[in-house]
Amino acid sequence: MNAKTVLITGGAQGIGAQVANTLAGRGWRILVADLNEGPAKDLAKELSGRFPSAAPHLGFGVDVADEVSVEGLLAAVAGEINTLDGLVNCAGNILRQPAEEMDIAQWRRLLDIHLTGSMLMAKSCFPLLKAGNGSIVNIASVGSTFGLPGRSAYATAKTGMLGLTRTLAVEWGQHGIRVNAVAPGYVNTEMVRSGLRNGTLSEAALLGRTPLGRLAEPAEIASVIAFLLSTDASFIHGEVIKVDGGLTVDGTFS
Ligand SMILES: NC(=O)c1ccc[n+]([C@@H]2O[C@H](COP(=O)([O-])OP(=O)(O)OC[C@H]3O[C@@H](n4cnc5c(N)ncnc54)[C@H](O)[C@@H]3O)[C@@H](O)[C@H]2O)c1
Repeated sequence: MNAKTVLITGGAQGIGAQVANTLAGRGWRILVADLNEGPAKDLAKELSGRFPSAAPHLGFGVDVADEVSVEGLLAAVAGEINTLDGLVNCAGNILRQPAEEMDIAQWRRLLDIHLTGSMLMAKSCFPLLKAGNGSIVNIASVGSTFGLPGRSAYATAKTGMLGLTRTLAVEWGQHGIRVNAVAPGYVNTEMVRSGLRNGTLSEAALLGRTPLGRLAEPAEIASVIAFLLSTDASFIHGEVIKVDGGLTVDGTFS
């Protein structure tokens, strides 16, 4: 039987790279697409060494916010595969700015990457996903549940991700395409580490606010994404699974 194939955006580092590792370890063929083309290709090469598959794992450059760039990616991918089993929309950035000082160009860029990028990727992959009875996993956040001071663009995009996930699920269920999301808490990746370094995030406050008392490791998010892509989740559709150590159910005042 042919290996299942997954396309992972933002797959060169962080959660996306861990999804690539986890799925390669489970026999999937990995297509990594990232703004940083070099690291995406390097990761694919490394995975091909560690987890050989009938066809090599491949890395591509893409700007998911750019329609022409996404078209180019799909043209390259179409030369490799006829069907797609999974699309994981991990590409993302963070913008930390008070709302009253918001740089609207940066606001637009963030919404373009997270929301429009996920939509563009889903739309472009639709024929391949339909042909493969494939499944999409989008990445939401604790910012999909509550407001995040200083991160209005991010929380707005991540809340929008819920509407995109649910609506695609309703539209595309008839085509055999499942669509779900995971909503991670604070994960030990560059996105969070950059906030800890520049003082926008306080580690003590974060851990104090998380009932499990620690950051998530990327592998703890990747395993849930792998579950959602798998046949074990064959009737889960339009759902958002929180993987946040209890953060969004904690109503403690202090
Ligand atoms: N780290 C967390 O705590 C956390 C929590 C909740 C949700 N998330 C979400 O998970 C996803 C992955 O985050 P991460 O923590 O791994 O971040 P990260 O910064 O480590 O990785 C993000 C990746 O996306 C790529 N990327 C950025 N813009 C892109 C674009 N326009 N086109 C293609 N690729 C692009 C980057 O090059 C990078 O490789 C993001 O959507 C993020 O918002 C992260």
